[in-house]
Amino acid sequence: MRKPVIAGNWKMYKLLSEAVDTAVALKPLVANANHCEVIIAPVFTALKTVADRVEGSNIKVASQNCAAQNDFGAHTGEIAPVMIKDAGCSHAIIGHSERRQFYGDTDESVNKKAHAAIAAGLVAIVCVGEHLSERESGNANSVVAGQLNTGLAGLTVADMERIIIAYEPVWAIGTGKTATPEQAQEMHSHIRQTVAASHGNEVADAVRILYGGSVKPDNIATLMSQPDVDGALVGGASLEADSFASIVNYK
Ligand code: 13P
Repeated sequence: MRKPVIAGNWKMYKLLSEAVDTAVALKPLVANANHCEVIIAPVFTALKTVADRVEGSNIKVASQNCAAQNDFGAHTGEIAPVMIKDAGCSHAIIGHSERRQFYGDTDESVNKKAHAAIAAGLVAIVCVGEHLSERESGNANSVVAGQLNTGLAGLTVADMERIIIAYEPVWAIGTGKTATPEQAQEMHSHIRQTVAASHGNEVADAVRILYGGSVKPDNIATLMSQPDVDGALVGGASLEADSFASIVNYK
């Protein structure tokens, strides 16, 4: 059985005090959520403080990016996965579409970052997803398969236990347009088949595939009812403790 994962990506929102307030408010609201893993991803400057404040609860902390190497060195502005782990995180989001679109992430850099994150003992949440034009031209499946085949290249079967895949169609992010549960299911099933082809059926059956893109308290249950949807990566609706908690408590 794949344990669902509900992750909140706070993007570039919240000063430190606001991040702490939200995390502290969230704790009692999700304390009984044993049916899923709960993850929040604040900005880098809030990671350590937030991780300290949720320690001992069922909330885990993720970074929103990481460097592609763990060796200390001359990489101004980069933050190594070992440092993210050292700050109290268990997960790192990698290859979010906003980083691919605006900050130069490529399938190749995503692959290096995934290797580095796993080497540091983190779980990598690897994001994939097509643009609207790619969907409209009938290329969504091949785009996502390409992102996966390069992004997960060279990872062993054991490494894949530390991979979560997040399918986030770019046209559904922050737009209020959610993929229909059928569209999500169709792509998640395609993703699972792609992983089966690259890493075998056992890995494909075990890997969690999250949906992201305008997930809200009122659409989470139908998305989660799809057989290949194993959770959600939530943006806007994760910023308030109440709304994120009602997504976590979708059952
Ligand atoms: P929204 O939920 O705001 O559409 O953002 C989705 C997302 O990008 C999560 O990583």
